[in-house]
Amino acid sequence: MPKYTVVTMPGDGIGNQVLPESLRVLKAVGFDAAYVHADIGWEFWCKEGNALPDRTIDLLAKHKLGLFGAITSKPKKEADAELDPKLRGKGYTYYSPIVTMRQRFNLDVCQRPCIGFAGNPLNYVRKRVDGGCDEPQIDSTVFRQNTEGMYCGIEWTNPPEVVRAALNSHAKFKAFSQVPGQDLAASVRIITRNAARRICTAAFEYAKRRGFKAVTICEKPNVLRETSGMMEETAKEVQKNYPNIQLWSTNIDAQLMWLNKNPEDYNVIVASNLFGDILSDAFAGLVGGLGFAASGNIGDEVAVFEPTHGSAPKYAELNPPIVNPIAMILSAAMMVDHVGEHQMANRIRNAVAAVVKEGKVRTYDMMRIPGGARSISQGAASTVQMADAILAKL
Ligand code: NAI
Ligand code: MG
Repeated sequence: MPKYTVVTMPGDGIGNQVLPESLRVLKAVGFDAAYVHADIGWEFWCKEGNALPDRTIDLLAKHKLGLFGAITSKPKKEADAELDPKLRGKGYTYYSPIVTMRQRFNLDVCQRPCIGFAGNPLNYVRKRVDGGCDEPQIDSTVFRQNTEGMYCGIEWTNPPEVVRAALNSHAKFKAFSQVPGQDLAASVRIITRNAARRICTAAFEYAKRRGFKAVTICEKPNVLRETSGMMEETAKEVQKNYPNIQLWSTNIDAQLMWLNKNPEDYNVIVASNLFGDILSDAFAGLVGGLGFAASGNIGDEVAVFEPTHGSAPKYAELNPPIVNPIAMILSAAMMVDHVGEHQMANRIRNAVAAVVKEGKVRTYDMMRIPGGARSISQGAASTVQMADAILAKL
């Protein structure tokens, strides 16, 4: 019997191209696992009216460990138009399966490392006053609250009467009270103290493990006084348990500016859902972009690891595939770390680092050329060639 069973969910588009490459790496490194395929994504919305079928939920509930590629999500009208005509008008609503999965299993801690590899031509560089350039080592991990906040899914266009009445009870709603329902959309931002405490604790625990001197809480409490206020207040409480680690506080807008000036100062950042989503993509841009951005969605029981990129439909049909599998492979390494096989995880990361440093094999994104059918003839490595190079280092 293998030691672990991993539920593999390639999903849509390039998820199908990168996930198999990560499995080759896991096998090569000797990760003792069986892999069970599970359905997820657009196809299942169109055919079944559910992008996250119950059978997939059952597999995750049983095996507790998942590896996910990417899915395609489309806006409401397009989703409705692509639903099987037999299912239309029967109350099916499209929900993003990854957001639903995070909520269903309370995968409330989202960990997104953005760590620069030496030799990556996409790394952030900064001009010095003497005209030279610095390439600071960026080693930042964003801890994003994954189940609440702006993405909790409670929203309406034309809110029902009871909601409207509740909104009317707030003095600030006077400005909107005459707007007709169909012209008014509202999304609710919910923060609970318990979830705030969990994400802040995860960030401080990580800082402690890595020996970092500070954790930054990145919110906007001067404007979002209640929700960001609760995040910040909770971070202050949690900090009391970590007397050797400072708590820095930044606003999301200013933080994005600081990222452009001195990103190396921020090793651990904690934020609510939407801000954490924005921050982690912004940081990813400094260390190579979405082709390098890995993540873990971690709950008490279940954990699912995924690259932060989406299904990149414009590249999904290319043969051979051209997208960078590193984000997916680093996500698999995070999974291996999560179950405690740290040596194996380090071997994977070292192999990736060695390929990047050597600079002989580079996917199109690493060459700063446009992606497309011509990328390969312009010298870019294919998805499979990049994975082969990593395997060779193992
Ligand atoms: P995307 O991440 O799919 O692609 C944006 C661009 O980033 C691509 O066009 C490509 O230039 C680059 N890129 C992404 N992954 C790459 C890789 N591995 N190697 C090299 N370059 C890469 O985001 P987009 O275009 O906004 O969304 C496409 C679809 O994916 C949408 O339906 C969206 O809803 C969905 N999506 C799904 C996510 C998930 O499954 N967790 C996350 C983000 C978007
Ligand atoms: Mg995102």
